[in-house]
Amino acid sequence: MEKPANTNRNISENIKNRWSPRAFDGKPIEEGKLLSILEAGRWAASAFNEQPWRFVVGKKGDEKYEKILASLIEWNRQWAGEAPVLILNLAKRTFTRNGKPNTTALYDLGQAVAGMAIEAVNQELITHQMSGFDMEKAETLLAVSDDFQAVSVMAVGTAGNIKNLSEDMQQMETSTRERKTIEELLF
Ligand SMILES: Cc1cc2nc3c(=O)[nH]c(=O)nc-3n(C[C@H](O)[C@H](O)[C@H](O)COP(=O)(O)O)c2cc1C
Repeated sequence: MEKPANTNRNISENIKNRWSPRAFDGKPIEEGKLLSILEAGRWAASAFNEQPWRFVVGKKGDEKYEKILASLIEWNRQWAGEAPVLILNLAKRTFTRNGKPNTTALYDLGQAVAGMAIEAVNQELITHQMSGFDMEKAETLLAVSDDFQAVSVMAVGTAGNIKNLSEDMQQMETSTRERKTIEELLF
């Protein structure tokens, strides 16, 4: 299922076509496609080129996947457990060069993940980002060291049949995508 943004202006097709579906078909994704997604994240901009983004890639059937899945809130677990890949997105809290707090680490991670989500469209894959997870649980289960912060999870895969979702989720899947107007965004 496609759900392109109803844009007022011409924008890049991959931005237009990115959306957050919950129906995954569960099929594994090609390693090359996954690497292209990570490569897109790798080339994001960051303050002082610190590149504070880190990823734990869980593939369905492996231990990392189970740990990421176990940290999701129940509601997200219902549908995200069908995704073949779950990526835990982490940010490094401090600058490597001087140990000082990196105040834009979350911002930089967000840019990396945004690029990954757009690249996923280019690879004909779908993504769904989540903050509905127990961050401390994820950090503990995956033995993340103190200098890193679990921020979000992204499910990656190929589109499945929405009929396999619960009724409320099916409704969300087909509802119109809404955005504020540009006027509302301008101070
Ligand atoms: C940081 C972040 C956290 C999100 N958390 C969740 C979540 O926990 N569960 C969920 O179903 N969707 C989650 N979403 C998806 C948003 O609801 C979705 O991006 C938003 O409604 C816009 O829809 P679109 O991505 O299809 O354009 C999250 C998205 C982002 C970027």
